[in-house]
Amino acid sequence: MDIFCSEVQPFVPLNLHEVRFWLRIMKEHSLFIKLGLPCDQTDLIREAQEFYNVFEDLEKTVCRVSCETDLKRLIGKIIVAVKNFFCYKRHLLHLLIECRIRGGANYPLLIDHISREAMYFLKILEKIKCDEMEYPVDSIVSENVFWLRIMADHLKFIRGLLDPSEREVWNTSNALSDKFDQLQLHARDFDSMLWHIRPNNDFSRFETEVTNSMVELREFKVTAEELIKECAVLSLIPPLLADHVRREAEHFLEILELIQNEMDDCHQQKIVCCD
Ligand SMILES: [Fe+2]
Ligand SMILES: [Fe+2]
Repeated sequence: MDIFCSEVQPFVPLNLHEVRFWLRIMKEHSLFIKLGLPCDQTDLIREAQEFYNVFEDLEKTVCRVSCETDLKRLIGKIIVAVKNFFCYKRHLLHLLIECRIRGGANYPLLIDHISREAMYFLKILEKIKCDEMEYPVDSIVSENVFWLRIMADHLKFIRGLLDPSEREVWNTSNALSDKFDQLQLHARDFDSMLWHIRPNNDFSRFETEVTNSMVELREFKVTAEELIKECAVLSLIPPLLADHVRREAEHFLEILELIQNEMDDCHQQKIVCCD
């Protein structure tokens, strides 16, 4: 299921690592939006800058926090900021898809993409109310659907921002984009097939395939980032955007490891029960 469905809950726990990761991501989103707006959109540019300041302040405050108890006191404030930013992103998306803003460099799909990331962060923060997962498999599969779509989008953004002369890199990103589209469709099949049950061996094999593809994608992003920094590939991709999408790929790899550990634990419990 998609992240906007009310029943969808991220598998990852609410902790300092997640909050620090996403606050930096939110701060960078406000910068990307600001840089991509047409210069006559002064109100939206000002608002984007205000969000940048809000998330920069929250990031600094959370960096000083050393324990989960102190973090919990800040969650309410972070939820308000993320909710406001989500509404701003959706408002901007509506302006773009109805052509009430023309020009600039913000693809509508990019704004939709970063609004999905804000919703995902919001749902992690809302785990403060209830951390119990009745059916972990539902969260595990939804986590795959969410991240595989994010990864497929990144490849489409990279492909769309490359200079048309960069045919080889374009072909590589296009082939990887097709691969991640297929993986995302496969994850959606598991979404209904495994609903309210438990991971099976076929899903285990799928997770290995996802992890291998993610290692390949991370390598592609690392290389792309180096080439962009050295100005050895022509594109409209700022180095910070290349760094941003590479960090998101690394984060998904960490989550895949968490999922793998959970599946190993389930497997062990099954063996103990059978013995
Ligand atoms: Fe992002
Ligand atoms: Fe992203």
